[in-house]
Amino acid sequence: MKGLILAGGTGSRLRPITHTGPKQLVPVANKPVIQYGIEDLREAGITEIGIVLGDKGREEIQSFLGDGSEFGVNITYIIQGEPLGLAHAAACARDFVGDDDFVMYLGDNIFKRGLTEMVERYETGEYAASIALQHVDTPRQFGIANVDGERTVTELIEKPDEPPTDLALVGVYLFSSAIFDAIDELEPSWRGELEITDAIQSLIEDGHAIDSHVVDGWWKDTGKPEDIIGANRLVLEDIEATNDGEVHPEADLTGRVDIGTGTTIKAGAVIRGPVRLGENVTVGPDSYIGPYTAIGDDSTVGGPHIENSVVVGKSELTADTRLVDCLLGRGANIASADGLLPEGNRLVVGENSNLKL
Ligand code: TTP
Repeated sequence: MKGLILAGGTGSRLRPITHTGPKQLVPVANKPVIQYGIEDLREAGITEIGIVLGDKGREEIQSFLGDGSEFGVNITYIIQGEPLGLAHAAACARDFVGDDDFVMYLGDNIFKRGLTEMVERYETGEYAASIALQHVDTPRQFGIANVDGERTVTELIEKPDEPPTDLALVGVYLFSSAIFDAIDELEPSWRGELEITDAIQSLIEDGHAIDSHVVDGWWKDTGKPEDIIGANRLVLEDIEATNDGEVHPEADLTGRVDIGTGTTIKAGAVIRGPVRLGENVTVGPDSYIGPYTAIGDDSTVGGPHIENSVVVGKSELTADTRLVDCLLGRGANIASADGLLPEGNRLVVGENSNLKL
């Protein structure tokens, strides 16, 4: 079985972060989202992995993943270019997949567990596909599956008015090469994309058996800023306390704090875990880092109180202010305007930024 990670797309919901880099490299608990997918595939025994790339962010993804050897996998890059839909992205990988079965994994999704079991069950049955599902509270907003008692999928419905179940499709699919013939027959949807749900629905209509797997643990689509912060929270929930840096005896640390190499925590700093600090981070006196915060490499926290936040890296946070539920892109600089007149916030804000003051 091969793996296919979709890492094209526009990433419009994550602007301005995605103005300067692809969303699949946004860190969750200091690790790029796409790395979770690679590790998940590897744990399920899948090491031949194709990465579908769009027009934007290609070089960054290639330079991060390289040939995959650093991650224990073998990577082939496939260029999709314009994001014409998930089914179009899959079709671009036809030569890479050949006659094999494959896992298609959305490159901005994180699963806590479940892929191995899904793959094992698929391999023991006679299925043309298997889809991952999760119970959701708002089924009208999702693609919903109807399943029979054997978990065989009987129908897929996009954002139904009267949902037959609360089982939403999430970002992992297993396919046989039969999916390519189904994609060949597709017409673009109202949004101009080739939809993978339409391809699966046509497999059902042609009499193929489609298995389903309800995700236990959690699943997170990191398409929006609040999703990144939510996923960060879920991953930090499970971290261990480690210290590869230097902690002053008069710093006050409680809970699980994971401290990277070269990181310094000065006297008078207060940290309440779970918190992950990357490499070469400095936390100064009077700073407070609260639960569910990840601070990326080469950052300085010198003054603010920050919690439930993701700081991508290379940031200077020196203002005496309170930062909660923040996603701060690489190189963000938040300094104090104290003493400057007229008083007020002094902002240099990129396109599509989102400030709550
Ligand atoms: P989406 O989040 O559905 O699409 P998007 O990346 O364009 O985001 P937005 O809606 O915010 O503009 O994509 C899910 C994953 O699939 C993501 O990793 C990007 C990838 N993808 C492709 O590789 N090719 C495509 O044609 C599309 C639509 C998505």
